[in-house]
Amino acid sequence: MTTINPKDFSENVFRLFDNSWCLIAAHDEKHAPLPYNAMTASWGGMGVLWNKNVFFCFVRPQRYTKEFIDNSEYISLSFFGEEMKKALTYCGRNSGRDGDKLAEAGFTPVISDKGVVEFEDAKVTVIGKKLFAADMKEADFVDKSLIEKNYPSKDYHTVYVCEIEELKVSE
Ligand SMILES: Cc1cc2nc3c(=O)[nH]c(=O)nc-3n(C[C@H](O)[C@H](O)[C@H](O)COP(=O)(O)O)c2cc1C
Repeated sequence: MTTINPKDFSENVFRLFDNSWCLIAAHDEKHAPLPYNAMTASWGGMGVLWNKNVFFCFVRPQRYTKEFIDNSEYISLSFFGEEMKKALTYCGRNSGRDGDKLAEAGFTPVISDKGVVEFEDAKVTVIGKKLFAADMKEADFVDKSLIEKNYPSKDYHTVYVCEIEELKVSE
């Protein structure tokens, strides 16, 4: 993979999230038997905040991946080609609590020295250092109709904003 300047990134971010989907992954040595986990996500984005290149993603409280994210300095987003869509669906319907879903789906995770989870065969990998995490609250929704549509169980997302430390694209 080649590391590029985020300003030279030519992929359409709307299509990446909404059509391709991604794996949000994090590493946590304290978890056993696997010290990493990942989940499929289609809500998120990339942009500029606090004069930094950032990505942001949204994770519901019941996700096993959230435990890893909360204990890790880094989060990665990995985007794949169409051939991994079935595998992404699998990781979006099954929990890492119940087994090694990443291996079952055909993903090959690689953990770097600084504890970042990357995947072989990713088309785009974005490594982010956590800057901000906040739980959405009912009172903060300006458009209250979003609550009924998206949170019938009141399981409001935690918002994570991460500084993009590295953006890699496959050659
Ligand atoms: C296409 C798709 C997109 C998803 N997007 C999100 C998301 O943005 N945030 C979230 O919390 N869950 C999202 N999910 C649900 C999680 O991927 C799913 O609950 C997963 O099984 C959690 O795995 P875990 O328990 O191993 O963390 C999505 C699922 C699919 C299939």
